[in-house]
Amino acid sequence: MSTEQTRADFERALAQKLQQFKGASPALDQAMEYALLEGGKRLRAMLVFSAGHAVGTPPHELTDAACAIEAMHAYSLVHDDLPSMDNDVLRRGKPTCHVKFGEAVALLAGDALQTAAFQWLAESDQGSVQVRMQQIAALAQASGSQGMAGGQAIDLAHVGKPMDLDSLQHMHARKTGDLIKASVRMGYVSNPALSNVEKDGLEAYAHCLGLAYQVIDDILDVESSSEVLGKTSGKDALNNKPTMVSLMGLNQARKLLAELRERALSACQAIEPPRRAPLETLVELITNRKS
Ligand code: IPE
Ligand code: IPE
Ligand code: MG
Ligand code: MG
Ligand code: MG
Repeated sequence: MSTEQTRADFERALAQKLQQFKGASPALDQAMEYALLEGGKRLRAMLVFSAGHAVGTPPHELTDAACAIEAMHAYSLVHDDLPSMDNDVLRRGKPTCHVKFGEAVALLAGDALQTAAFQWLAESDQGSVQVRMQQIAALAQASGSQGMAGGQAIDLAHVGKPMDLDSLQHMHARKTGDLIKASVRMGYVSNPALSNVEKDGLEAYAHCLGLAYQVIDDILDVESSSEVLGKTSGKDALNNKPTMVSLMGLNQARKLLAELRERALSACQAIEPPRRAPLETLVELITNRKS
């Protein structure tokens, strides 16, 4: 799997597939394009492709799943930035969607991106119907009240309130980890003949990486600058959010990140070496990310 080629093909497919949703209103069209196509590291899409590679599925059979997870993620960011949530003005180095298009349009763009994700999967001709049903279920479960939306609700309910480590890890696993898990699942379900050992390894990998994703995000919020991050640094403390750093301090948070990195890499061992390489690369990219 050539990562650069896969990424470039993905970007092209995503931009092309978004065209089908244009036409209702110019503001909505522009806001959806802005939120989905302007920047983003595409780590969730790459997780779908890498989990697919791990089980022998080529990237072109997972494009729709990768587009779906990035649309879901983009919607979560648009809503996360709203004044009633984190009230952020900077995202991916630019004004947030509601700053640029107004709150009502940003809300609707988020809504429409979420349903676009499911439409793409439902109408896809990639993989069998059974595989796509599993992908749809994985995405729905990870996004709703038992997943990302639930985690975001826990986040908002604990602004300015103390939280123990178990509850914080639960919140992080829901608000961020579950979409990471869904990315891996949507990739590996493409091979129904997968062994239990491989499946368990991929699940353990996704669990550790999902938690690591938010731990590094909490660390960067404290350690980095808005210029490098492309979003307002120091925002968690300003918003009185309980984070890994506020709870355990920078050093312990870094230690936890290193531990999660090790555990994710060791979980990959369930997959044979050439097939696990892209998953290993993503562990490094995610745990060393600077933005
Ligand atoms: C940011 O996610 C929000 C979190 C869940 C931590 P990313 O850092 O993956 O955002 P983009 O897509 O690259 O902008
Ligand atoms: C957001 O966590 C997770 C989502 C579900 C979008 P954060 O609120 O920490 O994400 P950033 O820092 O704004 O990207
Ligand atoms: Mg938030
Ligand atoms: Mg936020
Ligand atoms: Mg953050």
